[in-house]
Amino acid sequence: MTSPLLEASDLTRNHATRPGAVAGVVGLSLRVGRGEFVVIGGPSGSGKSTLLLLLGALLRPQSGTLRIGGVDLHALDAAGRSLFRARQVGFVFQMFHLLPYLGVRDNVLAGLPPGASRSGTEADGWIEALGLSDRRDAAPATLSVGERQRVALARALVKRPPLLLADEPTGNLDPDNTSRVLDHLDRYRRSGGTVVLVTHGSEADRFATQRLHLEAGRWAGPPFFPPIPPSTPSSLP
Ligand SMILES: Nc1ncnc2c1ncn2[C@@H]1O[C@H](COP(=O)(O)OP(=O)(O)OP(=O)(O)O)[C@@H](O)[C@H]1O
Ligand SMILES: [Mg+2]
Repeated sequence: MTSPLLEASDLTRNHATRPGAVAGVVGLSLRVGRGEFVVIGGPSGSGKSTLLLLLGALLRPQSGTLRIGGVDLHALDAAGRSLFRARQVGFVFQMFHLLPYLGVRDNVLAGLPPGASRSGTEADGWIEALGLSDRRDAAPATLSVGERQRVALARALVKRPPLLLADEPTGNLDPDNTSRVLDHLDRYRRSGGTVVLVTHGSEADRFATQRLHLEAGRWAGPPFFPPIPPSTPSSLP
């Protein structure tokens, strides 16, 4: 793999708790090339969300390094890191973190980086593509959990980030919506995006270019590289 888009080396992050440190992830390394769809599995509590927060530089490791597009994220100051993230990384949080006082469309528009032209066309495209057109003005509290999850995905994709980090993006969806979301993630990848997805399910495996498994904060078993899925170019909504 020549010059990976994402290169994480030896990341360790313990969580401080009252009884003592709890291991989040321990000494994890990962290389992700442009155009990959990396699927990371593992049981509840194995460190998947901790790892994804580290890969998005939303959490600082106690040791190890993170480079995205050749940039050492933790060598930047906080403002530089925020700007880099806003432009380069889309993040779907496991708990969504939607803005409670904004409707669906405004939540999606909130995913655009500072200074982006606030054209609503792209936002409307994703709202339509993810089956949210009827709920365009609804407040998050009035949405079903699966609808909130799709809003969170639209918000992450609206800026067409080079890198998408998605934490259980189909965790609350029925089979039809799971297929719809995964098909859109694959289309985003084929249009030039790169996906790192964590899940405890197996539904994303058929799209994976790299499949890894976490157990108690460490890689379990060798990474598995399935045959690369067909890479016909695709355009986004
Ligand atoms: N902020 C925190 N403070 C203390 N411990 C934490 C914190 N965040 C995570 N942990 C602990 O770190 C370990 C890994 O948690 P993490 O959320 O990364 O797991 P996960 O694989 O995403 O689980 P799930 O599938 O349930 O979402 C767990 O033991 C968890 O209790
Ligand atoms: Mg998690």
